[in-house]
Amino acid sequence: MRIIILGDIVGTPGRQAVTQAIPVLREQYSPDLIIANAENASNGTGLTPDLYKKLVKAGVDAFTLGDHVYKKNHIIPTLQRESNIIRPANLSHKALGNRYMKLSVGSPEDNLPNIYVFTVLGRIFMSLPASDPFECCDQLIDDIKRHDPTAIIITEVHAEATSEKVALGWYLNGRVSCVFGTHTHTPTADARILPPTLGDGSISDHPSPSGGTAYITDLGMCGPTGSVLGRRVDRVLTYMTTNMPAPFDVATVSPVTSGIVLDLNPNTRLATSIERIELQADTQQPPFTAH
Ligand SMILES: [Fe+2]
Ligand SMILES: [Fe+2]
Repeated sequence: MRIIILGDIVGTPGRQAVTQAIPVLREQYSPDLIIANAENASNGTGLTPDLYKKLVKAGVDAFTLGDHVYKKNHIIPTLQRESNIIRPANLSHKALGNRYMKLSVGSPEDNLPNIYVFTVLGRIFMSLPASDPFECCDQLIDDIKRHDPTAIIITEVHAEATSEKVALGWYLNGRVSCVFGTHTHTPTADARILPPTLGDGSISDHPSPSGGTAYITDLGMCGPTGSVLGRRVDRVLTYMTTNMPAPFDVATVSPVTSGIVLDLNPNTRLATSIERIELQADTQQPPFTAH
């Protein structure tokens, strides 16, 4: 089974880059599923129902969000109605939207395991107060496996601190098929299959030949790289050098589509490969040139 996961889609340039990239990715990798984080799709903050529909049409199969989940609050009915979009799981139980999603791949006769995806928010340097992500993961994994023992589980850690993401990767090692990070909008060079955690809690020196939990600290964003995390360089520099307010408009320069290609063995539910991908958009071609 092959799954492509794309990082935070930032503004119109991010959405256009993803729209342009998906046919290329489908041709090149033949993924069973394309998942994307869309928390910055609406002008850099939040997601609207209209943009959700546009991204579905562009070929995104399922959506995660992050700390900006409710910034455009008219997305809430979509969160409640649709089965392919989730809010972060470790918010209040009263927060609206699904805590995890169940995704099916292949035809029924293929009898492939279901894929479950959930997002936890980090607590270090994050403004949205969320509950313990470690405890939340334990609870959700138990719930999912009780209902579906052959579940493939993919966990997104939407967090600022690298240490918290790495720690959650090891915490979930061997229990889920993939732990990937989002939120920092800058890709990291640490995509790998984690070596097994041994019975005494130590880490094996050697990766298992049969695969394991795939891990990456941050997917990077789908958005303009001539920017500060997707925002206009001049505006951010004005703010940072003068302390005077400046509107952080979404940048337009040099958009990319960034993420991972993940291969999973449906029998072992282990990841056998994780490869980072980054596609430079051609802004002289549609949808950038179409009006
Ligand atoms: Fe983001
Ligand atoms: Fe975020």
